[in-house]
Amino acid sequence: MRILVFGRVGQLGSALAELLPGHHEVTFLDQPEVDLSQSENVSNLIAEYAPALVINAAAYTAVDKAETEPQLAHSVNADAPAAMARSCQIRGVPLIHYSTDYVFDGSASVPYTEDAVVAPASVYGRTKLAGEQAVARETDHHIIFRTAWLYSHIGHNFLKTMLRVASEGKPLRVVDDQIGSPTFAWDLGIASVAAVDALEEGREDVYGIFHATNSGLTSWYGFAQKIFEVAGIDTVDLSPIPTESYPTPAPRPAYSVLDCDRLYRVLKVEMPDWQDALARCIARL
Ligand SMILES: NC(=O)c1ccc[n+]([C@@H]2O[C@H](COP(=O)([O-])OP(=O)(O)OC[C@H]3O[C@@H](n4cnc5c(N)ncnc54)[C@H](OP(=O)(O)O)[C@@H]3O)[C@@H](O)[C@H]2O)c1
Repeated sequence: MRILVFGRVGQLGSALAELLPGHHEVTFLDQPEVDLSQSENVSNLIAEYAPALVINAAAYTAVDKAETEPQLAHSVNADAPAAMARSCQIRGVPLIHYSTDYVFDGSASVPYTEDAVVAPASVYGRTKLAGEQAVARETDHHIIFRTAWLYSHIGHNFLKTMLRVASEGKPLRVVDDQIGSPTFAWDLGIASVAAVDALEEGREDVYGIFHATNSGLTSWYGFAQKIFEVAGIDTVDLSPIPTESYPTPAPRPAYSVLDCDRLYRVLKVEMPDWQDALARCIARL
């Protein structure tokens, strides 16, 4: 299959670069070839590469910075995916796109299903929701994976930050009252490959939103504890704090566990437990 992927250098893009090739003919586009804040270039690029499938692994992901750069975040997270979806619809090709648990307000106490009520509390969450809605409006032939707490051995993320701060010997105070599912970008990549395979088979039942996170749940503090345990680091001064002791420009959902049942039912992808995923990721550092 001829596939055009926007964004290779990020966490998910790096996973796709390793997992997708095989029998596919894949082209990855990054800056400076494409600047997704200028969405008018998108349709020309899709016309030029004439793919049978477009995947958008790129996004504006600086959650706190988005509070002061709402227009830039909206251009990359909503206008560019809208342009991709419009172009895909005209060319009759499907689009795989990614979104976030931050489309939810975090007031639930059971896992969010794909059709749960969305109410993002941050600029980032609102721009990602606008992107989802634009993609769905422009083409029925879309797959949107909502994921959460993404990390990898490549790129910037919570895992890397914990290991760096620990190596500096500084005490660590980590939030213990936000609950979610840490997700290894490679496992999201594997779910994405299952979607590509299903599209290649011509399946019509695979469109729409899928929740895709590693299974199980923890807090950021629990995630940090497990990181140090798996990495064999027992010298860290680590303690739990409430969210109110660590104010951030963008509010985070208190609870953002996603129900991934549709992913299993439709694509037969069973997402591994987050602790198993963390061990596989740390082994690659
Ligand atoms: N990270 C998380 O915790 C998390 C959680 C839930 C959902 N998600 C979603 O999952 C998807 C993948 O996230 P990720 O963690 O892999 O992201 P990431 O590591 O931050 O990578 C983002 C990618 O987008 C590219 N990009 C950003 N601005 C661009 C622009 N103006 N023009 C072209 N490319 C641009 C980056 O390229 P440069 O480096 O060159 O800028 C990079 O390739 C995204 O849709 C994200 O919203 C992420």
